[in-house]
Amino acid sequence: MRVTPNKMRLLVFVIGIIISSCQSNSSNEAIKIFSPDGLNRITFILRDGTPYYSVSRNGDTLIAVSKLGFILKNSGSLSHDFVIDKVKKNSFDESWTQVWGEEKEIRNHYNEMQIKLKQASSPNWKLNLIFRAFDDGVAFRYEFPQQPNLNEFEIVDELTEFSLADDYDLWWIPVYRYHRYEYLFQKTPASEIDTVHTPLTMQTKKGLYLSIHEANLTDYASMTLTGSKDKTLLCDLVPWPDGVKVKTATRSRTPWRTIQISETAGGLITSHLILNLNEPNKISNTSWIQPMKYVGIWWGMHLGTYTWGSGPKHGATTQNAKRYIDFAAEHGFRGVLIEGWNIDWDVTWWENGAIFRFTEPHPDYDIEEVTRYAQSRGVEIIGHHETGAHIGNYEHQLEDAFKYAKKHGINAIKTGYVGQNAVSATGENVWHHGQYMVRHYRKVVELAAKYQIMLDVHEPIKDTGIRRTWPNMMTREGARGQEYNAWAEDGGNPVDYLTIIPFTRMLAGPFDYTPGIFDLEFKQANRPNNRVRGTLAKELAIYVVIYSPLHMAADLPENYAQQPAFTFIEDVPVDWEYTRVLKAQIGDYITIARKDRNSSDWYIGSITDEISRQLDVPLTFLDANTKYIAEIYADAPDTHWETNPLAIEIKKMPVDSKTVLTLEMAPGGGQAIRIRAVD
Ligand code: NOJ
Repeated sequence: MRVTPNKMRLLVFVIGIIISSCQSNSSNEAIKIFSPDGLNRITFILRDGTPYYSVSRNGDTLIAVSKLGFILKNSGSLSHDFVIDKVKKNSFDESWTQVWGEEKEIRNHYNEMQIKLKQASSPNWKLNLIFRAFDDGVAFRYEFPQQPNLNEFEIVDELTEFSLADDYDLWWIPVYRYHRYEYLFQKTPASEIDTVHTPLTMQTKKGLYLSIHEANLTDYASMTLTGSKDKTLLCDLVPWPDGVKVKTATRSRTPWRTIQISETAGGLITSHLILNLNEPNKISNTSWIQPMKYVGIWWGMHLGTYTWGSGPKHGATTQNAKRYIDFAAEHGFRGVLIEGWNIDWDVTWWENGAIFRFTEPHPDYDIEEVTRYAQSRGVEIIGHHETGAHIGNYEHQLEDAFKYAKKHGINAIKTGYVGQNAVSATGENVWHHGQYMVRHYRKVVELAAKYQIMLDVHEPIKDTGIRRTWPNMMTREGARGQEYNAWAEDGGNPVDYLTIIPFTRMLAGPFDYTPGIFDLEFKQANRPNNRVRGTLAKELAIYVVIYSPLHMAADLPENYAQQPAFTFIEDVPVDWEYTRVLKAQIGDYITIARKDRNSSDWYIGSITDEISRQLDVPLTFLDANTKYIAEIYADAPDTHWETNPLAIEIKKMPVDSKTVLTLEMAPGGGQAIRIRAVD
């Protein structure tokens, strides 16, 4: 994120540095730090030369003694025979400003300990560990320092464990499956999981909420977690084709292993631990990075009324593009996404990764004319690069493709990596989540920054807070989006789906879910087994509940005609000053209030699962000296997601900070509210 000296409050307190030396490896040594509020504790333990750690809150153990270390290929391990060489403790407290996001100012406040280890006998390797304790959780990472006997090396196993103190309930999705991160979350005890992705959210027996993830995944393999009967989760790094997990060298660091801790489910959402563990913004001029709402030639393809490829139903024609541009201009949307604009989409397009070209428009799509027209109407085209996950073909064209986009005034590109596996530049099948692809996704982000291009990545690597360092990395998919409602064989996302996502997938970062479907039952498309399982008011609420700096109004423009509810989508911002979670129960309901970054207005989004709910929401977050009008978009008394999803009541009422609103939500419903300050 950009550090703006005039806005940033920087308070760095180095309150204590302890440097110690000890050379014994035959005993137990424990060194600990506490979070600034004194509640969270992370302890480093060296037991007979082997490193471990544990985590507690308020004296209760959350993560019991858990192993640390590595096995290296053909050369031994960084896991035993260690002595402590040095220990250093620091405290840190600064606030920084996000270029865009859910919260404008973020406080980064922690206590830290750096532990330097060295092996007592040959090969005398060194390994450093850095631990941080925040009020919203703890984190640690490994550093491989420069040393005489180790240079390039390959990690075949990271031994990091998370030994859960009890058989916590976990919300998880599986790893190594065809659809990458696009699975429905299951809830089971820890002892019943196989290998799962992070963020991995859990609830302890005492009702605390934890989530294990990683921050700053750079040139390393993704961490996934494997369960075991004794409730210990083992770090499982996504491998290269030869089985090696990470190819690296000394003077490098692992991503942070993060454990967010909260007394409430909502506290996980307002935790900024992941962002705080990423490096500050590297882009000095960020004026070109602009969150926006967009429409696009997209939903029609998913419904089957348009095609990406050529033919009578081709969506991306010059004429259709102009229609969408007109619609965007008339309704205040800055972006128009156009998919299927380039050649090679014909037949089974998902197999065309090796031939897609990113500088050759389809003959019936006059890109010069479309982009000229867009500009004349104050609208931007969002480009689209579906790569089919053929990395060689894409990387070969990348620079030219970005230059081509910029030449046409395209400042944002949606990329896509459809495919069970990605195909490397040398033709090998690689996982989307292994080190090869971590490198690729980052390469694209950095090159896009050079060309001042914002990115929306589908079939992405999971977010680990990179948007702080590269704020052109706007949003991504990495979960089942709205499109599953159009064509999934299981009929679409279940009613409670989006009451789980804010506490799991969203802890990683923004999600391009593409809300705003008004024709919830697909009356105009021949999809008898599919529909959106929710109500119209819920579709509106999603704009607030699910954060994305690029948010789409995904339905066909004709479905928004004569719809008063569309006003909410026109009004709702995508860049916020504050975020407050007002009500939260994972899998049941969530109510979020956010304040617009550019006005005094607040917005509330609330959604429920299949059970109707009545939630009392005190508006104490409003400014006490301001009067407001609440513009309420609510389910009607007879609304039901299955039988009557479109019934909506739109009403206005004066409110202030003393008002308590009662949010009535139908089964599968929701409520969206704009709270407009009255001058
Ligand atoms: C899958 C993406 O999620 C979707 O948004 C896109 O339309 C298709 N791939 C084609 O690229």
